[in-house]
Amino acid sequence: MNAPHASRYQETYALWQRDPAAFWAEAAQAIEWIRPPQQIFDGQAGVYGRWFPDATCNTCFNALDRHVRDGRAAQPALIYDSPVTGTKASYSYADLLGEVAALAAVLQDLGVGKGDRVIIYMPMIPEAVFAMLACARLGAVHSVVFGGFAAKELATRIDDAAPKLVLTASCGIEPTRVVEYKPLLDGALSLASHKPEACLVLQRPQAEASMHVTRDRNWRALVAAAKANGRKADCVEVAATDPLYILYTSGTTGRPKGVVRDNGGHLVTLKWTMENLYGVKPGEVFFTASDVGWVVGHSYIVYAPLLHGATSVLYEGKPVGTPDPGAFWRVIEEHKVVALFTAPTAFRAIRKEDPQAKHLAGRDLSHFRALFLAGERADPDTLKWAEEVLKVPVIDHWWQTETGSCIVGNPLGLGLLPIKHGSPTVPMPGYEISCLDEAGKPVPAGTMGAIVIRLPLPPACLPTLWQDDQRFREAYLSAFPGYYTTSDAGYIDEDGYVFIMGRTDDIINVAGHRLSTGGMEEVLASHPAVAECAVVGIRDALKGEQPCGFVVLKAGVSLAPAEIERELVALVRDKIGPVAAFKLALTVNRLPKTRSGKILRATMRKIADGEDYAMPATIDDPAVLDEIGVALKGRGLG
Ligand code: COA
Ligand code: AMP
Repeated sequence: MNAPHASRYQETYALWQRDPAAFWAEAAQAIEWIRPPQQIFDGQAGVYGRWFPDATCNTCFNALDRHVRDGRAAQPALIYDSPVTGTKASYSYADLLGEVAALAAVLQDLGVGKGDRVIIYMPMIPEAVFAMLACARLGAVHSVVFGGFAAKELATRIDDAAPKLVLTASCGIEPTRVVEYKPLLDGALSLASHKPEACLVLQRPQAEASMHVTRDRNWRALVAAAKANGRKADCVEVAATDPLYILYTSGTTGRPKGVVRDNGGHLVTLKWTMENLYGVKPGEVFFTASDVGWVVGHSYIVYAPLLHGATSVLYEGKPVGTPDPGAFWRVIEEHKVVALFTAPTAFRAIRKEDPQAKHLAGRDLSHFRALFLAGERADPDTLKWAEEVLKVPVIDHWWQTETGSCIVGNPLGLGLLPIKHGSPTVPMPGYEISCLDEAGKPVPAGTMGAIVIRLPLPPACLPTLWQDDQRFREAYLSAFPGYYTTSDAGYIDEDGYVFIMGRTDDIINVAGHRLSTGGMEEVLASHPAVAECAVVGIRDALKGEQPCGFVVLKAGVSLAPAEIERELVALVRDKIGPVAAFKLALTVNRLPKTRSGKILRATMRKIADGEDYAMPATIDDPAVLDEIGVALKGRGLG
């Protein structure tokens, strides 16, 4: 623990605890409403209550129009920095508003209105941001799908969200290859039962897409025509409780969960975090190295920096290899970045390639004040290395797609609390965190348990899952009545610091990407040669975890293990996408099970990680564990 600084955290948290409604009413003053909230919270509405139930607003207005009106027209809003294409561009608030209003007019022409869903399947280019904001402007509900997902995953989301329109680009660019998006979209549309009315396709020069004659529309041509005709769409008034977006995240089965974000609570919370948590002022430059397909990208590449009148960097590249491990330092220097937000895996990648941080030499990072990490557990080793080389506070903070912003963090803006490596620090206002045993009783300080949040959830958290209140209740609210179950396990120490150690369900975290092992098992099981299978997340020095599949083949199948592995790896890549990073499928004779037939995944994971394990009392045949150990050893694991 380093020396404590004066922090306003305790008094701010106490203020919230004393009167949550007054706290959020005060925070809501920072938003420009169309009809300001008279009622802050309605405990009777929705599944667990609704925030700002009588207010109306427009998110895009607060992100753009308001700043243009108030003197930020010429200030950069979005800096696009793309080492993979060798392009840089800067959009002022006025430019961004112009682009968004014109695109929104095009969407209107294509029939999109308030409440309609729009799927956005795009790489990290400015048009992805324009698209999100154009939907927000119209009161349409966007659902961004990460580009690393394959056709089937996209199809599942299309069927669940039933979009009127799909927005895409012809390709994304990975350091080693150009990923053509359009064939993936075409594949998804042939798999999906829902058929959107049209697709708006942005042609990129790296790979032009072939267009479906009636369904596909040319993005650039339609926007150019709208601009030439002076067409601009106005902001549409929506209820604070209307959905701004749906973001699908991995559930415990192959069917993803449609996390719903409302307009009002999201506006209030995100705006509050910029100053109080991240310590960023309007006009300063914020750099979130994530992807707009993830919640971190939604909140801190797009919405929060813009709501705050800051400048956001949109980076189309990787932490290493584009071209080297000094890429982030270049961006920070060149754009005068004050805070960087990324996943620990990015720093593990940089450290691996440049352990002495030689690429930092000569870089002017004088504007840079803090590094924020989230998306997976920040291992103390990586954290310490980042502190040593950057010489600024390195702040771990914990959140989930479901919450939209930080649950437990260390508020730089309010004044940093002493950092304990391995802990994201303390609950933010809005969150009362407990650590419970299986019976729902609080465990003593320092004891592992289920980390839960007392209801109601604060503004910006999901009010429900898209058109599925029942699944929302079952997945999050039923295990511990009165609490939201985070499905993270951890402990709270005697100082109230929260430690998040891992998931309690079958979600794994690969390079900061949240993936379902259940979803991967469904894919493996669909292979005709596979009788049964299990996928577990095993430790990986770079990505934190990597999936490892164990398969038992059907009797009579004579495929060699290497052959079946090659087919299964290709199948997961085809069905889920490259983002799954599925590279290991070991053929075994049997899976370890309890006498009641439950597969002992946790024990298999411990064997793979070389950890000690207690022989499960209910195991059917202990010899199977030795067989698993042998299979792993054969691949240099365990
Ligand atoms: N479109 C298409 N494919 C994509 C993609 C996209 N948007 N993003 C990733 N992929 C592909 C990659 O090319 C890779 O394919 P490959 O198996 O052919 O090599 C695969 O998906 C796995 O990607 P990733 O896990 O990102 O691994 P990587 O080796 O490309 O990069 C890191 C490793 C650590 C550099 C990278 O994961 C990273 O920068 N992580 C930052 C973390 C982050 O952004 N987290 C989001 C939440 S904050
Ligand atoms: P996602 O919804 O993709 O943001 O993933 C959320 C999950 O990532 C959480 O439930 C945690 O398991 C993990 N996670 C995110 N941030 C942290 C963190 N700072 N420390 C530990 N785990 C984290």
